[in-house]
Amino acid sequence: MTVTASPATSPATAPATERDVIPFHVSDVDEKDIEAVVAVLRDGWLTTGPRCRDFERQFADHLGGGVQALAVNSCTSALHLALEAIDVQPGDRVITSPYTFTATAEVLRYLGAHPVFADVDPVTGNLTVETVTDAWRRLSPGVRRRVRALVPVHFAGLPCQMDGLEELARTHGWRLVDDAAHALPAARRGRPIGTWGTATAFSFYATKTLCTGEGGMLVTADAAVADRARTMRLHGIDRDAFARYKHVDGWRYDVVAAGFKYNLTDVAAAMGCTQLARLRDMHRRRTAIAAVYDAGLGQVDGLATPARAPWGDEHARHLYPLRVLDGIAVRDRVIRELAARGISTSVHFIPLHLQPYYRKTYGLQPSDLPGATELFTQEISLPLFPGMAADQVVRVVEAVPQALAAARATRG
Ligand SMILES: Cc1ncc(COP(=O)(O)O)c(C=O)c1O
Repeated sequence: MTVTASPATSPATAPATERDVIPFHVSDVDEKDIEAVVAVLRDGWLTTGPRCRDFERQFADHLGGGVQALAVNSCTSALHLALEAIDVQPGDRVITSPYTFTATAEVLRYLGAHPVFADVDPVTGNLTVETVTDAWRRLSPGVRRRVRALVPVHFAGLPCQMDGLEELARTHGWRLVDDAAHALPAARRGRPIGTWGTATAFSFYATKTLCTGEGGMLVTADAAVADRARTMRLHGIDRDAFARYKHVDGWRYDVVAAGFKYNLTDVAAAMGCTQLARLRDMHRRRTAIAAVYDAGLGQVDGLATPARAPWGDEHARHLYPLRVLDGIAVRDRVIRELAARGISTSVHFIPLHLQPYYRKTYGLQPSDLPGATELFTQEISLPLFPGMAADQVVRVVEAVPQALAAARATRG
């Protein structure tokens, strides 16, 4: 199977004017976010301080399950800190998904460990107990012994089978650290994502379901992991900047490890608190938009709407990953036809086994991970953000079948 992009085709319709264009994403920023940020600017304490503490407390309360939450400057840092805290060593292996952003796997390389990519279900984009078991079985006995952890990714916000994966990890003695960059709020069998396994990493990047521009949260119920990550997120210093400032002897501190600079600012955390307060409202709006897409596109020949969360699970609806079943050439033309109709889209993801670094370093072929390769050749992420107007959603629903018909008409 070839997975290179097809050559450009000329759009069948006149380009939309700028005013007509429906963006792929617009961050949901309201007056309360702005007031909260301005209050921090007026207050004058800009770096990690009381707003970060509030955000951490509120985030942990939101998830429940006795977790601790550590605010950091990205999901990437949260993943790195979690893996460092569980003592992933050079040469260790970590089983993870190829159907993700590079951050998920690059943090293993920071530690000198290696990813073992297990395939994903081509319908959900998620690892399953079967694909992880299969990837593990393919390893030699010597390499199997080096597997330290399993890092599933909840693609698009659809929760992985955390019950089965947790059981599998327990059986093999692996730690389970999930990448929940897409999965807020989300739940598996009624239990929030963030309360499974050893640790979870969330992202507050500009396009995410809770955004602070850049930002992330490491969540864990494991006190040893929390203690280590708390120290390592700020240079391996035994106290944070605010604690030092508040004490008379604040100039004194101990560097107990060679740590990182991963702390979140109070400017970002202030917005995190106000965003968290309306997370449910934003999620309701995302869910409603996805329902309109499902109803409008579910019966279109040649398309498959995204996998739904089974009963008892909650989908965060970060992305709406539509599948174009004709494959990559038609998929690429649909993207251009939609752009010509003023609809911006994206593709999630170019899987890591097709990216030059991972392909070359680990000698990977498209056929090694057929589920991930297939999903990549079909996937288009439609616009999905809480501020989308009803008429914009309708325009997308109307344009997609037209774009597909035009793309199919220029086939070959
Ligand atoms: C699945 C996944 N993991 C991790 C990340 C990294 O998040 P951050 O930008 O907060 O480091 C992203 C970012 O898009 C992502 O999509």
